[in-house]
Parts: sequence; C-alpha cells; structure tokens
Amino acid sequence: MASATAIDPMLPEPYSVRQVLKETADTFTLTLEPSEGVVGSRFQPGQFSMLWVFGVGELPISISGDPVERHRLVYTVRSVGQATHALVSRDVGETVGVRGPFGAGWPVEKAEGRDVLIVAGGIGLAPLRPVIYEVLRNRPKYGRIVILYGARSPRDLLYRKELATWARQPETQVLVTVDYGGLNWRGYVGVVTTLFKYARLQPARSLAMACGPEIMMRFVARDLETRGFAQESIYLSMERNMKCAIGFCGHCQYGPHFVCKDGPIFTYDQMRPLLEKYEL
Ligand SMILES: Cc1cc2nc3c(=O)[nH]c(=O)nc-3n(C[C@H](O)[C@H](O)[C@H](O)COP(=O)(O)OP(=O)(O)OC[C@H]3O[C@@H](n4cnc5c(N)ncnc54)[C@H](O)[C@@H]3O)c2cc1C
Ligand code: FES
Repeated sequence: MASATAIDPMLPEPYSVRQVLKETADTFTLTLEPSEGVVGSRFQPGQFSMLWVFGVGELPISISGDPVERHRLVYTVRSVGQATHALVSRDVGETVGVRGPFGAGWPVEKAEGRDVLIVAGGIGLAPLRPVIYEVLRNRPKYGRIVILYGARSPRDLLYRKELATWARQPETQVLVTVDYGGLNWRGYVGVVTTLFKYARLQPARSLAMACGPEIMMRFVARDLETRGFAQESIYLSMERNMKCAIGFCGHCQYGPHFVCKDGPIFTYDQMRPLLEKYEL
C-alpha cells in the first residue's frame, strides 16, 4: 500500500506510540511505529515531521532517531506549551498523526572527506543526533569529528550514555558545557562557544552544523567565521512557526525563504543578512 503522505502531504498518517522515554525533567523521547497499513518513510538527518495530537493541534518536531531504522520514527520533545505537553503525555499504544518528513537535511555528503564540527545547544542536540549516527556509521569517509554540546545544567543533558559512547569513537572529540554546574559538576561551565578553543580540527577543511537557540547560533556562526570557517561551510537549523510545512501558507517565511521547504537548514551566508536583523 502506498503511503498516504505520498498522495496528499496534508493528510496525517496514524502512528502508534511505542515508547516514551524521560530524558530530563521536561524532555522526552518518543518512539512511534506506523499503524497497520501505513508504510514507514525514509528521512534525511535534519528533516522534521508535523505531529498531530488529536484534539490539541499540530506541531513541527525534528526526527532525532537513526535514519537507517525505517520502521520507527523517534522524536525528542521539550514540553514548553500546550501541544508539546500533550505530545509528551501520550501513553504507549495511543495514536499520533504524522505528516512528512519535510525540509532539507544536513549536508551529510558535502561533509565527506572533511573534519566535521557539530555544535548543539539544549534541545538542539535532537535534530543533530541523526547526523551523528550517520557520520559515525560511515566513520572512514570523514576526517575528525568534534561534538560540542551546551546545556543549562547537568540535569538538562540529553543522551548522556550516547555522549559517552560517541566520545570513545576513533578521531572523535565530545565536549560538554553547562551554564550552571552546581557542586558536583567537574566539567566545563560557560556558553558553548567557550569550547571552540579546545576543538581539534582544521577550520579551513571543516564543515560545521549547528542547532540551538537563535541567539546561540548567531554567536556560533560569527565566532566560527573568525576562526577560519567559510560562511558556506557553516550550516544552521532555523525554527519558525509552521502550518502547512510544504511551502503554501507562508507562515514560516523568513526573509525570502520558506523555512519549511527551503530549510530548516541553511548556510550562514544565506542566513547572515537576516540574523543581523533581530526583529525578523
Ligand atoms: C523545524 C522545527 C523543528 C523543531 N524540532 C523540535 C524538536 O525536535 N523538539 C522540540 O521539543 N521542539 C522542536 N521544535 C519546536 C516546537 O515545534 C515548539 O516547541 C512547539 O511548536 C511549541 O508548541 P506548544 O503549543 O507546546 O507551545 P506554545 O504554546 O506555542 O509555546 C509555549 C511557550 O514556549 C515558547 N516556545 C515555543 N517554541 C519554543 C521553542 N522552540 N523553544 C523555546 N521556547 C519555545 C513560546 O514562546 C511560549 O512562551 C521545532 C520547531 C521547528 C519549526
Ligand atoms: S509552513 Fe506553510 S509555507 Fe512554510
């Protein structure tokens, strides 16, 4: 049976909640499986779905699972309001409507042969996790891999076990920093850009992928440029309010771009004129 989404991208397909995993006090990872008759679709790292919580509404959420797993979709969701709260409160077996995947993904192929820098802030590690899986699975294709991750506090760190696993991979460096460490924290304290000086890679042959609050990405991009990264080699994942997710309604317009269709991932040279204008 063909996927309904392939016929009408506005029509959600029913998926069943398989698992809800508590990551932190306000963040949960949901695993969804296609309901009977629904064909699971492939996704590119960095793409997102529109998740429909029946009776509440629809919201864009990035896919945070492994792209090779075709029969399940994984999302990491921070509960910030009505729709996200309803989503993370689903019980196993309940149905969630899924549209997508949508958007342009991370430049996994362009990164081949180069050092790869991943910079994540808070929930921004979720859309980057699929690219980390992909790059580590194809390790010989890439140069050094550096993952820099900033969270509010040690209790807000996502994927703790995986961070430790990634750090043990060859030619891979994982550095974590928090805004507030507390008494038992022995790691770095400060914003994520303070980790740049420890990153062991060659900027001129590197490609960077960053996701986090917009203010963070503004500083990340500027700082990387001063360290020798080309603007076209810095990729940023942008967020805007979305409705249709297919370039029709204009809700996600950001300057000349529709974030749902042209993004959500853009190069810094595309975003720079807009990021300088704070009110957009
Ligand atoms: C392409 C894309 C991918 C996304 N991927 C993810 C993801 O993987 N995981 C995830 O948890 N969220 C993700 N989001 C954000 C998510 O869609 C919003 O948090 C959600 O729509 C908020 O809906 P709500 O009804 O729960 O909260 P609302 O009632 O809309 O908002 C409640 C409060 O939270 C604030 N708020 C809303 N969104 C955010 C945000 N993103 N960050 C901080 N504060 C916010 C609002 O300003 C408001 O004060 C993504 C957004 C986009 C556009
Ligand atoms: S969400 Fe409708 S055009 Fe992007």
